[in-house]
Amino acid sequence: MLSATRMVMLGTLIAVVCVALVGTLSAVPSESQKTTPPEDQTYVGVKECASCHFKAFAAWQKTGHSRAFRPLTEKYQKDPKCLKCHTTGYGEPTGYQDASGTDLQGITCESCHGPGSKHTEICKAFGEKKLSEEEKRIAKQSIWEILPKNVCIECHTVLAHKESETPEELRRRH
Ligand code: HEC
Ligand code: HEC
Ligand code: HEC
Ligand code: HEC
Repeated sequence: MLSATRMVMLGTLIAVVCVALVGTLSAVPSESQKTTPPEDQTYVGVKECASCHFKAFAAWQKTGHSRAFRPLTEKYQKDPKCLKCHTTGYGEPTGYQDASGTDLQGITCESCHGPGSKHTEICKAFGEKKLSEEEKRIAKQSIWEILPKNVCIECHTVLAHKESETPEELRRRH
C-alpha cells in the first residue's frame, strides 16, 4: 500500500512532469530553429554549470535532487544498483566514478540536461560581455533544454523504488 506521503509525492511528481512537458513543448519553437546539441560532450559537474547559472543552481540546491547522494551509507555508495539513480551519469565514461569527487554526486544539472562540456566551452568563448541574440541562440542550441528521453521516469518509476528496495536502515518514510 502507498502511504499518504508517497501518494502526495507521486501527485507532485506527475504534476511537475506535466508542467515540464507542456513547458518543453511550448518552448520548442520549431524543428528548423532548434537543432540537436553536439553529442560527444563529457560531464563537467555542477560547479561549472553554477558559475554561469547561479539562479538555476540556487533553485536546484533547494530540491531533494541536490541531496540525493546523502542517504547512501558507505556500503551503498559502492553499489552500482543504487548509483544509477542517486548520482549523475553513472556507468558512462565521464560520469560519476567514485565518492572522491563531489561534483557528480546526486541528481545534478547534467542528469536532466545531458553532459555539457561543449556548451561550457562555447559559452566561455563568448566572454563576459552581453550576448547578442545570435550568440544566445548558439549557446542554447549547444545543450538540451531537457533530454529527449523521458528522463524523470527513468529514475522515478516511483512504484519501482518499492519500499522493499530501500534498505530498512535507510528508510525515513513509512
Ligand atoms: C560560461 C557560461 C556557461 C556555462 C559554464 C554553462 N552555461 Fe548554460 N548557458 C549559458 C548561456 C549564455 C546560455 C544562453 C542563455 C540565454 O538565454 O541567455 C545558456 C543556456 C543554457 C540552457 C538553456 C537551453 C535552452 O534550450 O534554452 C541550459 C539548460 C543550460 N544552459 C544548462 C547548462 C548546464 C547543465 C551547464 C553545465 C554543464 C551549463 N549550462 C554551463 C552559459 C553557460
Ligand atoms: C538520475 C535520477 C533522477 C532523475 C533523472 C530525476 N530524479 Fe527526481 N529524484 C531522484 C532521487 C534519487 C530523489 C530523492 C532525493 C532525496 O530526497 O533523497 C528525487 C526526488 C524528486 C522529487 C522529490 C522532491 C524533493 O525536492 O525532494 C521530485 C518532485 C522529483 N524528484 C521530480 C523529478 C522530475 C520532475 C524529474 C525530471 C525532470 C526528475 N525528478 C528526474 C532521482 C531522479
Ligand atoms: C530506479 C531508480 C532507483 C534505484 C535503482 C535506487 N533508488 Fe533510491 N530513490 C530513487 C528515487 C526516485 C527516490 C525518491 C522517491 C521515492 O522515495 O520513491 C529514492 C529515494 C531513496 C531514499 C530515501 C527513501 C526513503 O525511504 O525515504 C533512500 C535511502 C534510497 N533511495 C536508497 C537507495 C539505495 C540504498 C539503493 C540501492 C540499493 C537505491 N536507493 C536504488 C530512485 C532509485
Ligand atoms: C530534475 C531535472 C533537472 C535538473 C537536476 C536541473 N534542471 Fe534545469 N531544467 C529542467 C527542465 C525540465 C527545464 C525546462 C522547463 C523549465 O523551464 O522549468 C530546465 C530549464 C533550465 C534552464 C533554462 C530556463 C531557466 O530557468 O533559465 C537552465 C539555464 C537550467 N535549467 C539550468 C540548470 C542548472 C545549471 C542545473 C544544475 C544546477 C539544472 N538546470 C538542474 C530540469 C532540470
